[in-house]
Amino acid sequence: MGLGDAPRETWATRAGFIFAAVGSAVGLGNIWRFPFQVGQEGGAAFLLIYLLFIILIGFPAMLVEFVVGRNTERNPVGALKAVGGGAWRYVGWIFIATGFVILSYYSVVAGWTIRYTILGLQDGYLADVGEAEAQFVDLASGLDAIVLHAVFMVTVIVIVAYGIQRGIELAVKVLVPAIIVITVGMAIYAFTLEGASEAYAYYLSPEWGVIAAEWTSILPAAAGQAFFTLSLGMGVMITYASYLGEDRNLAEDGAIVIGFDTAIAFITGLIVFPILFTAGVDPADPGAGAIFVSLAAAFGDLTLGWLIGFIFFGTVAIAALSSAISLMEVVVSYVVDERGIERRTAAFGIGGALFLLGIPSATDLVLLDLFDLFADQILLVLGGLLLMILVGWLVADLAVDELSRGIGDLGSLGTAWIWAVRIPVIVVLIVALALGVLEYVEFLTGPFAEWLAAL
Ligand code: TRP
Repeated sequence: MGLGDAPRETWATRAGFIFAAVGSAVGLGNIWRFPFQVGQEGGAAFLLIYLLFIILIGFPAMLVEFVVGRNTERNPVGALKAVGGGAWRYVGWIFIATGFVILSYYSVVAGWTIRYTILGLQDGYLADVGEAEAQFVDLASGLDAIVLHAVFMVTVIVIVAYGIQRGIELAVKVLVPAIIVITVGMAIYAFTLEGASEAYAYYLSPEWGVIAAEWTSILPAAAGQAFFTLSLGMGVMITYASYLGEDRNLAEDGAIVIGFDTAIAFITGLIVFPILFTAGVDPADPGAGAIFVSLAAAFGDLTLGWLIGFIFFGTVAIAALSSAISLMEVVVSYVVDERGIERRTAAFGIGGALFLLGIPSATDLVLLDLFDLFADQILLVLGGLLLMILVGWLVADLAVDELSRGIGDLGSLGTAWIWAVRIPVIVVLIVALALGVLEYVEFLTGPFAEWLAAL
């Protein structure tokens, strides 16, 4: 089929692929987004539904991306063209656009984590929640934010420019173990805090009444979180699997990646909630400012809080880096494969464009929301949905064949997988898309319209 004319890099080791996929999955979604979702959606009840969705929705969807990537050995646009034929390439373009939009503001938020790491060294966390909030608003937008967004972007560019083996693989083999060791260490620390037992009760014993009363908001939130945290819906796992170059048990690899990602999210809850309870903050309050306001204020309150905060935010920055690399690689692989541009040139050019695109998000929180909601609630879900329709309904036989490479005969498990994609995954994505569009319209006519009017 004329694919793979140019020599294409592959991962040096099996562990390299798994580290990279784990590094992509574990990020701001686990450490920043997950705890405040739990807080807003009813604690342990949300956790339970979330875990269910990871297995029911996340696992089959991840295998879809894996088989498409390994089968085509191409970037997402080329992969979809190869699998689905001409017009499906446009879905690949949605992926590229999503990568651009997400990374532009992801890098700004990552810049905040760098700022808050430095703040620890300056002993700068403020114990008063009101003051901590004012501090966050001050640091989140403006020159500080732009400069750190640039610093983060340059780091991502340099790693991606070095390519798969010498850039991404090397970086994730250092970053991922660091994330794991530090998170576990911090959970042990959190266990010693006064508020720990109260926090565990809140986090770990679901109240069935909460699920019954709140399921209409818990279900979409849990499904969205499952997709985002596993880096699904924009071709990251297609791209990473395209560098496999050998037959391996993809189901096993997927289970390992999901296991690590879920463990890190779960453990983050064991860190964040004891700290919040100890500082007397209601976990339902924080919202999106959770770690930068409530948690930072708790660090301002705790003995040696500056040090704990320094380690915590440093870890978040590292986790954001290994995720940002994967977002960038989607776009770079497209330009390198399809446009024949040299990797280094591509990385610097795309990184530069991403820096510019991120500037609005670094100057105003409303604009960051504008990008975040659009990417998260619309682009990501739309791209993911179309991919699941293509693989689940149009090329299912090919997909099952590809999955069996490296596993052997799948028997009825292959059928079970395809039906999991066809019904639960697709239905959940359709519902999530509908709700996402509604929410976006609300945002555009609400906060965004107000912002425009105040200009
Ligand atoms: N999964 C990452 C996190 O939890 C974010 C991320 C990286 C992502 N690549 C992605 C999310 C692709 C959606 C799609 O922070």
